[in-house]
Amino acid sequence: MRKIAMLNQKGGVGKTTSVVNIAAALAMDQARVVVADFDPQAHLTIHLGVEPDNVEMGTYKVLTDSVDFTQAVTMARPNLWLLGANINLVGAESELVSVVGRETIFREAVVAAEDKFDYMMIDCPPSLGLLTLNALAAVDEVIIPLQPHFLALQGLGKLLQTISLVSKRINPSLRVSGILFCMFDSRTSLSEEVKNDIQNFLDNARDTDCPWKDARIIPTAVRRNIKLAESPSYGKTIFEYEPNCHGSEDYRQIARFLRNGQTEEISEQTAADL
Ligand SMILES: Nc1ncnc2c1ncn2[C@@H]1O[C@H](COP(=O)(O)OP(=O)(O)O)[C@@H](O)[C@H]1O
Ligand SMILES: [Mg+2]
Repeated sequence: MRKIAMLNQKGGVGKTTSVVNIAAALAMDQARVVVADFDPQAHLTIHLGVEPDNVEMGTYKVLTDSVDFTQAVTMARPNLWLLGANINLVGAESELVSVVGRETIFREAVVAAEDKFDYMMIDCPPSLGLLTLNALAAVDEVIIPLQPHFLALQGLGKLLQTISLVSKRINPSLRVSGILFCMFDSRTSLSEEVKNDIQNFLDNARDTDCPWKDARIIPTAVRRNIKLAESPSYGKTIFEYEPNCHGSEDYRQIARFLRNGQTEEISEQTAADL
């Protein structure tokens, strides 16, 4: 099972939208995918059309009550399972405060599910607290969604510092695999400028041993698309809501890139060969 956390402690950057639609694209391509909602606001749960009040087990019970992970997930679509959240999750951090090993509860819970799914994607809350630490302890990969905003780099230092500490102390296999630009507007030079800044930052890390030394900017940016903003209120993925919009195209390509990091190069190569 490939385990990925979608993380940025800023809200509104595209974490939930990306988890839903990348997971849906992978599931439509026959991968077995489980998504975990780590945000007490339960946007991921709602976006998949599940009412948070109807989540009986979900993330909260796995973290606080040792409920079995595979029993706590529900099938949300063909090949797509959800570990749901509801408002109870707000209390998890304080309830666990005196529990020994509280950062690794989730990691231990998913061990038994290792062969049951091909991908697990965690939708992190907009904070770097205990819920996020549990996500980071359990995954191998982090994808950081960014809005190409002049403040995009602000806050990235703190985020990378947290990832670095977790990789040193709790999870040595943790790495940042990708930066995903969301709500991208290629007409503005600012988007390109921010992208160049990030590329330089990543290039400077190549010869170090930090967890983002192999990170790449995911070659498909998610364009700003109103259909992506509308789909959550219908409890639908973008492929169900509007399969032929930019949002669907972009997330389909991103899922393809994640499955096979080479796709982009291969298609360029093929084009050159023709
Ligand atoms: N590419 C996009 N174009 C337009 N709206 C988007 C796009 N991606 C996300 N949104 C909208 O922006 C808001 C924030 O996105 P969301 O995925 O919820 O961010 P986060 O989970 O990081 O808080 C939501 O209302 C969502 O529907
Ligand atoms: Mg969210």
